[in-house]
Amino acid sequence: MNRRTETVCVRGSQSRKAVDNTGSISFPIYQTAAFAHPGIAQSTGYDYSRLQNPTREEVERVVADLEKGLDALAFATGMAAVSTMMEMFVPGDHLIATEDLYGGTTRLFQHISVKNGIEVSFTDTSQISNIRAAVRENTRAVFLETPTNPMMKITDIAAVAALAKENGFILIVDNTFLSPYFQNPLTLGADIVLHSGTKYLGGHNDTLAGFLVTDKADILEKLRFIYKTIGGGLSPLDSWLILRGIKTLALRMERHQENAVRVAAFLKTHPKVKEVYYIGREDHPDKEIINKQCKGYGGMVSFRVDSEVTARQILERVRLIYFAESLGGTESLITYPMLQTHADVPEAARRALGVDETLLRMSVGIEHHEDIIADLKQAMG
Ligand SMILES: Cc1ncc(COP(=O)(O)O)c(C=O)c1O
Repeated sequence: MNRRTETVCVRGSQSRKAVDNTGSISFPIYQTAAFAHPGIAQSTGYDYSRLQNPTREEVERVVADLEKGLDALAFATGMAAVSTMMEMFVPGDHLIATEDLYGGTTRLFQHISVKNGIEVSFTDTSQISNIRAAVRENTRAVFLETPTNPMMKITDIAAVAALAKENGFILIVDNTFLSPYFQNPLTLGADIVLHSGTKYLGGHNDTLAGFLVTDKADILEKLRFIYKTIGGGLSPLDSWLILRGIKTLALRMERHQENAVRVAAFLKTHPKVKEVYYIGREDHPDKEIINKQCKGYGGMVSFRVDSEVTARQILERVRLIYFAESLGGTESLITYPMLQTHADVPEAARRALGVDETLLRMSVGIEHHEDIIADLKQAMG
């Protein structure tokens, strides 16, 4: 019987290999660069840690199980995962991407992919007609973030997957914001799922990691070849930290969500708040798609305040909530997307997205909700 998500999180992959016979409950950390060969032309299955490492393989199997994939690849960072994935494409290829992406991914596409002869068109993918209009003869993939960062727009994954099949290109989804606990893009027809494991998977604001997951054997083979050649794999110790973080993924996601629902409701009533962007709100314009493709709403809330002065005041006055630019960890963080995550997005494009001096983004942590809200209240004055 297939184990449920909570059980996979705590107990590890179903195919956990008995790599030692001590009965260790915690998966061992194989802190080694190389593995000794039993004889000439013989291998234990492990030769060199850039290629294979048992601790990294276990975290890869767990993430693959959580995303319902065939296998996963674990990277040192989320950006290492995106960069490696981009090596599947060749000069002359064209990709279509969500316009409202994590700024680092936009930077990679606009400054590095372009140099490699790969062109990326950005569009509002929440309107499938925009994707359809952007398709060219040389289009090889669509890259989505849903919900988007930071505007929380939703793209219908199954609809884009159908379009991708029809046109012979692949669908890649960055699933960092909802985590595999609340959304499984492969089950909706995506071909590759990407995670910044630094966020909800690790969950404690203490470790960088990235993952690619696929359910297609041909894509997996290509990615493994690029992966072992480029390097960038997750270290054994960090693999173990992510494994430990994942043990509480289900509990944390539930609490992140409970707190975020409350924070979003509080913000909605505050006179200095003009707009709240949270996919758990009843008035989210894509409620129907959210209910169809997500199992929950997660902990990311963006909001617009009445002025730049208010925004800056909040960032300077928060005491419990950290003014910091990551997300998905136990501690609540607040970010100024304009100056942080989206600093490299050209100003006109950034403004058109709604990322201006009045927009703040919060990663709601798992502290007591009354303490988080009290901190926001005092910071807003
Ligand atoms: C949605 C999303 N994808 C990818 C990344 C990149 O991940 P990393 O910082 O682990 O390289 C981030 C980082 O903030 C992110 O928010």
